[in-house]
Amino acid sequence: MSAAYGLMAMILGIESTAHTLSFGLVSQDGEALPSSSDLYAPDEGGIHPREAADHHSEIAGHLLQNLMETNSLNSSDISAIAFSQGPGLGPCLRVGASIARGLSHSWDVPLVGVNHCVAHIEIGRNQTKCDDPVLLYVSGGNTQIIARKGGRYRVLGETLDIGIGNMLDKFARTHGMAFPGGPKVESLASKWLSSDSTRTLDRISLPYAVQGMDLSFSGIMTAANQKVADGHPLEEVCWALQEHVFAACIEVAERAMAHAGKDELLLGGGVACNARINEMARIMCDERGATAYCPPKPFCVDNGTMIAELGRRMLSVSETTELSESAISPGLRTDQTIVRWN
Ligand code: ATP
Ligand code: FE2
Repeated sequence: MSAAYGLMAMILGIESTAHTLSFGLVSQDGEALPSSSDLYAPDEGGIHPREAADHHSEIAGHLLQNLMETNSLNSSDISAIAFSQGPGLGPCLRVGASIARGLSHSWDVPLVGVNHCVAHIEIGRNQTKCDDPVLLYVSGGNTQIIARKGGRYRVLGETLDIGIGNMLDKFARTHGMAFPGGPKVESLASKWLSSDSTRTLDRISLPYAVQGMDLSFSGIMTAANQKVADGHPLEEVCWALQEHVFAACIEVAERAMAHAGKDELLLGGGVACNARINEMARIMCDERGATAYCPPKPFCVDNGTMIAELGRRMLSVSETTELSESAISPGLRTDQTIVRWN
């Protein structure tokens, strides 16, 4: 038994839906530990699923060993293995699922297949202690506005084309910035703003990304590329692009809060690392007497700890996954998972 955690057994979570392989831990009473993660970043172009999967296979042993050693744990300290069953890229998901099945078998502990999108919500609830929020889930592959109702996390609005993070990554790549592009767009945008805080959007209007309760980002990306081609400084376009797409997300989130009668907004997913979307969320919530929450950055991006946390909640209502039910589910949707836990 570990010196660090005494008799408290830990749940191990494995995340492998896309570019990140990550192992994380939560204790049975919900203490979340930092993950051991590695990001596959292609030298050029977008993510190639097969190459990302090869990366995950190669790095897995090292990451897991690192996590166990850092926390002075051995296999007898692990009480269950949770893994991302979907949604995500098939080859990447398969690597995580295979590792999970192998560990569950050899350590003789239960296996729990979890919904990656729902895990973003539950780690946010764990970290911020909000209770029943509208979630603005803004990541690379996903952009959804979600609220819990009738035993499911319902998707009240979502992108009709690409995820907001993929859009930022693609825009950045077009202008010579490597993956992940979101943080680079953020730093150019704040550089532009800090050089003159009285900037207005008058000079540079872009199409609005809201369509009813849904969003779309490919049109605005094309328009932003055109603004750069027209000679606008890249920093200015980065700033205007952020202002437009974040405002669109916050507008839909606000309407979802009004519609669902909720007074908490929780941000999640990699784009939630962005300071400006956090600021907009705070302003909107302040104006309607609500509260905005966001977990620390390591728990916004894909991480194994969030998978462990959802596994822990599912185990609390005796949900485990038999080997015969453990196949990956690349197209799994947020609202397909029945939410029985508190
Ligand atoms: P999912 O499978 O949930 O769609 P994902 O595979 O996209 O997740 P995440 O780690 O949740 O992975 O998010 C990564 C995305 O977050 C990338 O598109 C990246 O550019 C974006 N991102 C990270 N930091 C920032 C930031 N500061 N500002 C804007 N975008 C960011
Ligand atoms: Fe994610």
